[in-house]
Amino acid sequence: MRVDRFLSNLPQFNRQQVRLLLAERRVTVDGVAVSDPHHDVREFSLVCVDDAVLQAGKPARYFMLHKPQGCVSATSDPQHPTVLDLLDEPDKVELHIAGRLDFNTTGLMLITNDGQWSRRLTQPQTKLPKVYYVQTEQDIGPEYAAMFAKGVYFAFEDLTTQPAELELLSSRTARLSIIEGRYHQVKRMFGYFDNKVIGLHRERMGPLVLDAALAPGQYRPLTDEEIRQV
Ligand code: URA
Repeated sequence: MRVDRFLSNLPQFNRQQVRLLLAERRVTVDGVAVSDPHHDVREFSLVCVDDAVLQAGKPARYFMLHKPQGCVSATSDPQHPTVLDLLDEPDKVELHIAGRLDFNTTGLMLITNDGQWSRRLTQPQTKLPKVYYVQTEQDIGPEYAAMFAKGVYFAFEDLTTQPAELELLSSRTARLSIIEGRYHQVKRMFGYFDNKVIGLHRERMGPLVLDAALAPGQYRPLTDEEIRQV
């Protein structure tokens, strides 16, 4: 949320007072004085006016994990290992997954405690592409790209998928870019042509690309630059 809106939503300031506080550089966000009314205040930002704390920021945490096959995108599971089991971090209950992957799908998984940030990444409205490397059982026909660009009808939800981009890499491999994350979306899009997906790997979510140095099962914190890009 913009800092001016954040402040005017509080009972102690009206819009004019907020303008003045910002102009006088009496507002700090995470310790930095701000005068720009558009400055972003996040769920975990520490916001102060003079020395009074208005929102006590909790440290936001962001991780990139290379999800291996055979683990569940959930915070707990009675049968299988979960992606959170792969993290050696405190207070894991506070973390959530930004964009789940199926049990056997591999690749980029982002884990955070910042709900606003993960929503920006996953909401179709922000149109951030999720890019998958896809392997199929049958040849991928020339008609697929046009169909995916137009949208595939999903009867169960009674909706048509948003336009997606398909780049053919070989007769049975392709790169697919989608902006939504419907249940089993990629498999169901290829399922429209009765073509089974036999390998699925997420390479990218918006500006964030899976770090090639991470082996399946490994993770690392995001850099400040990566966090800011979303
Ligand atoms: N689409 C799928 O079908 N499965 C995934 O894991 C991700 C996208």
